Amino acid sequence: MTAAIPAPRGLPIVGNGLQVPVEGTHQFFADLAAQHPGGLFKLNLAGRHVVFVYDPDLVAEVCDESRFYKPVDGPLGDVRDFAGDGLFTAREDEEVWGQAHRILLPAFSQRSMKAYFPQMLEVAQDLIGAWESRTVVDVTDDMTRLTLDTIALAGFGQSFKSYEQVELHPFLQAMGNALTEVMHRARQLPLVTRLKREADGKYRSDIAVMQETVDEVIRARRASGEKSNDLLGLMLDAADPVSGGQLSDENIRNQVLTFLIAGHETTSGTLSFALHLLLRNPHVLAQAYAEVDRVLPGDTVPTYEAVMRLDVIPRILDETLRLLSPIPFIGLASREATLLGGKYEIPAHQKIGVLMRPLHINPVAWPDPEAFDIDRWLPERKAEHHPHGYKPFGNGERACIGRQFALTEARLALAMVLQRFAVADPDGHQLTIKQTLTIKPDDFRLRIRVRQDHE
Ligand code: HEM
Repeated sequence: MTAAIPAPRGLPIVGNGLQVPVEGTHQFFADLAAQHPGGLFKLNLAGRHVVFVYDPDLVAEVCDESRFYKPVDGPLGDVRDFAGDGLFTAREDEEVWGQAHRILLPAFSQRSMKAYFPQMLEVAQDLIGAWESRTVVDVTDDMTRLTLDTIALAGFGQSFKSYEQVELHPFLQAMGNALTEVMHRARQLPLVTRLKREADGKYRSDIAVMQETVDEVIRARRASGEKSNDLLGLMLDAADPVSGGQLSDENIRNQVLTFLIAGHETTSGTLSFALHLLLRNPHVLAQAYAEVDRVLPGDTVPTYEAVMRLDVIPRILDETLRLLSPIPFIGLASREATLLGGKYEIPAHQKIGVLMRPLHINPVAWPDPEAFDIDRWLPERKAEHHPHGYKPFGNGERACIGRQFALTEARLALAMVLQRFAVADPDGHQLTIKQTLTIKPDDFRLRIRVRQDHE
């Protein structure tokens, strides 16, 4: 027996399109999920039908790569305007995805993180230095500076030194503008996008600025003949172990842009949400301070080995990514017509969205789901987790290649902030969310004070 997929009532032609708010999209989907406890619902977004899934058993099915794939359309299709066939926006039938994936995978293994550690430390020290002269800090903005500077320095030897600049680097301005335009386009009809000639011209010129900046970095690196074991060095030199082919300069440019985009907002959102959640949960904050004082006493400069010994801080990040995952959903599509959950009919090429927060707080997978409980991540309790109840880094072959990079960078930064500062939130920050391609806290300020000895 088949069953109809629950679908909130919409209007003729536009369907549910006009119901999706411009601000607060994240909350809109969370509310719809709460109203549909069966773990899925369907929306008609002006003729584009999408099935949203958040029951872990159904998610297990859509994560089966023999039945579902990652389509590159919607906002991701627009990001392709500048990230081209880079890993994030490559289509599954593009051979270059496999070549780049195989070439880059070793550079993102946990072992490789030791090589990037000095650059991660240098940028984290810039953040600490900038905060030492302040009493109130804009957390989300400064975490974004940290993560952008880190991927640019560790990945491509580019020093943005964002904490020292009043004006953003032209590349960063262009990238911010282009990402904002992508979000506008996601919310307007294609015809409106075509009519907005001026916005389109600005978008094209921002893309040109980004591409020219990166092309110049690649040209300069080639001209210098310098051999470096950063991501750029690897892409310029390494050959694909399967085909023996090398990446073209155009593809390398697309990968550099991809890493700069994919590699910063997500990690900065995670760090900002982690601080927000720590202030809401003072007993966990106390555990974090105790750990930092044990592993990094006084002014000890962190080493890679010390950061790898941390245990509370990694669990704080795991739990933050469960409750407030910076990527709110991932898009998939069915290869062929199929049945979901043994009863829901799914036609071929049906768009599917896995909704991250509704999945991560689904009581089928998580007891007491709203509690910020870092002990869920103790090794002995991980066996209790539903195998498909947690997807902050996506799924299968198209899952995040930068996971270890992000987690190493975030562990180091969070540990150094707590080592140096007492953090407080006297006005009780009410979480509001800013949504672009990712979500992060909006207007989140903290009061900070340099910690005294024995504090
Ligand atoms: C893909 C999350 C940090 C590079 C993804 C995907 C997710 C994700 C959910 C899959 C997207 C999809 O299916 O469409 C995160 C989170 C991060 C993070 C939560 C931080 C906490 C990073 C960093 C880098 C990076 C630091 C690079 C240095 C990428 C790339 C892909 C990707 C290149 C595409 C992989 C492929 O399709 O081959 N990430 N990411 N990410 N991420 Fe991350």
